[in-house]
Amino acid sequence: MDKIFFTYKIPDEGLLLLKGYDIMINTEDRFLSKEEIIQKAKDAVALVTLLSDKIDAELIKSLPKLKVIANYAVGYNNIDVEEARKRGVRVTNTPDVLTDATADLTLALILATSRRIVEGDRFVREHRFAGWKPDLLTGPSLKEKNLGIIGLGRIGRAVAKRAQAFGMKVIYHNRKPLLTEEEERLGVNYRSLEELLKESDFVSIHVPLTRETHHLLNEKRLSMMKPGAILVNTARGSIIDEAALIKTLKNGRLAAAGLDVYEEEPTVPQSLIDMDNVVLLPHVGSATREARTEMAIMVGRNVAAVLEGKEPPNAVV
Ligand code: DGY
Repeated sequence: MDKIFFTYKIPDEGLLLLKGYDIMINTEDRFLSKEEIIQKAKDAVALVTLLSDKIDAELIKSLPKLKVIANYAVGYNNIDVEEARKRGVRVTNTPDVLTDATADLTLALILATSRRIVEGDRFVREHRFAGWKPDLLTGPSLKEKNLGIIGLGRIGRAVAKRAQAFGMKVIYHNRKPLLTEEEERLGVNYRSLEELLKESDFVSIHVPLTRETHHLLNEKRLSMMKPGAILVNTARGSIIDEAALIKTLKNGRLAAAGLDVYEEEPTVPQSLIDMDNVVLLPHVGSATREARTEMAIMVGRNVAAVLEGKEPPNAVV
């Protein structure tokens, strides 16, 4: 019987689509090391992975029977896709089903940072609330403010729609501008990256992590941001140079940051933890029960398709 190895448990709905296979799941509440994955998935034809599993060339080479790596995520920067392609191993991901969840969380961070929700919560819990005051925990309004979206793909567009409902004006940067009709339909305007950084009151990142987007927001670009702007990242930590971000927050150029992702997860720099104007989340962009269930179903469908010799619905390669 063909063996499928899951590096971590995912919702049962995905497993139900894989009846008839020998399913082996790491049921421990910890991530496996590369050596452990190689050893446990030795004879597997399918490997189901998390974004926290580094699936590099050595690992792929060590699993000679492998036909498919199904990532339980839309991002797949954790997988050496080129090595998989070379070896004829299919790679799949889980797009679309987590778009709304991630866009909702992005808006939550925009609101949490601008309206100082976490600071306010701490303030009350520390029994410091001594009555209404005109200047207590004020922040910028969203109405008429520029939201700069870097990467107007599926999630970027869902963020734009939500932000527009709050009265924000949306500008965006993509490698290539959209067609004018499309821009009009979405109510967005294109800017170069530098223009976007200079004009935006809020910047939100929605590009995948690739060689090109690694440290896209470096010290030079961060220092171009509008004084008092707020930066939100629900994409991947390494798109921002984290050390440079800390500097830019410390020198007061940025008013606040809302971060769901970090360069070296699960490590979060102490300097960020120490800042009151930074809202920190543990990579929960897609963490609605509905999205996580749909993601599991997509994984099940992708694996089943490859093992049945069909084209997987969500092929990366
Ligand atoms: C993804 O899918 O890439 C998110 O970061 C986690 O769901």
